[in-house]
Amino acid sequence: MRATARAQPNIALIKYWGKRDSGRNLPAVGSISVTLDELFTTMNVELDSSLYLDELQVNGRSVPSLLPRVTRCLDAVLGADRLCARVISESNFPIAAGLASSASSFAALVVAASAAGGGDRSTSELAALAGQASGSAARSLYGGFVELRNEGDGIAVGTILESEAWPLRVIAAVTSTAPKPVSSGAAMEASRKTSPFYSRWVEEQDIDLSIARDAIAARDFGKLASIAEHNCLKMHSVMWASRPPVVYWNAATLACLERVRELQADGVSAFFTIDAGPQVKVICLSGNEPQVVEALSNTPGVESVLASGIGAGAVLVNVD
Ligand code: DP6
Repeated sequence: MRATARAQPNIALIKYWGKRDSGRNLPAVGSISVTLDELFTTMNVELDSSLYLDELQVNGRSVPSLLPRVTRCLDAVLGADRLCARVISESNFPIAAGLASSASSFAALVVAASAAGGGDRSTSELAALAGQASGSAARSLYGGFVELRNEGDGIAVGTILESEAWPLRVIAAVTSTAPKPVSSGAAMEASRKTSPFYSRWVEEQDIDLSIARDAIAARDFGKLASIAEHNCLKMHSVMWASRPPVVYWNAATLACLERVRELQADGVSAFFTIDAGPQVKVICLSGNEPQVVEALSNTPGVESVLASGIGAGAVLVNVD
């Protein structure tokens, strides 16, 4: 009745932005990401007949505001007539740092909850359940370079290149740990309903996915850099043109982009991507990591810099 799982966050290179079915949390577009290595969330789920309500502890603190989403996810995995659960989540990176902690958390949660309930689900079933809780979490079930496709009435997720085949590094510049002004789910809905660029964003996604897929298969860094930066800036343009506008960036976000342009001009193989927050993630060849870390660390407004390789998908650690 008790199980522990571990999952890493993932960073999208071709972004998920917008839902085709918000009730079932199905994405409007496919996406491609890399699953991180050194950063992870460990999730312990214990089903306990003495509890009357679910309990949630995140990094040693009770967090009632996150509980409803966790309860919904547990219901989806175990059924609404399940025992209540004690859920303990520990991440080895700051959860407010905009590093996709919801992806690692929900990926680990579905794996641990399913095992605690005695389930024996396939990775694709677990990915579908994680995706219902948070679209990006579906990708953290898999390691390496991961593609999520819309397929029929659901999603299909899988590794398109193993991490060892192209060991890129991901360097995250944390520019603020303040809470987000608007959640990514709410911002996506605002984009869908009000942004004049939204329909074009959806229309063009298959082209971006196919360019990125080819670049990854050929390990063509320049081609991947160009399409990933384009796709990221296009997603933010959709948000900026929403009403009211959604702007996650701060001055340091822009300063980091300028740093990346300078590095590129100096011949460094690096490119940026930005999610629903002000942090900048820079993907680079491993030989270029020291220059990228140094440049970002010296950028005004950068609070901290975290580095990671590309790693494996979610795993079950133990069941008792
Ligand atoms: C910008 O997965 O957080 O990081 O499904 O509403 O939980 P919900 O959204 P979420 O959105 C992630 C958006 C993104 C891009 C990406 O990871 O693909």
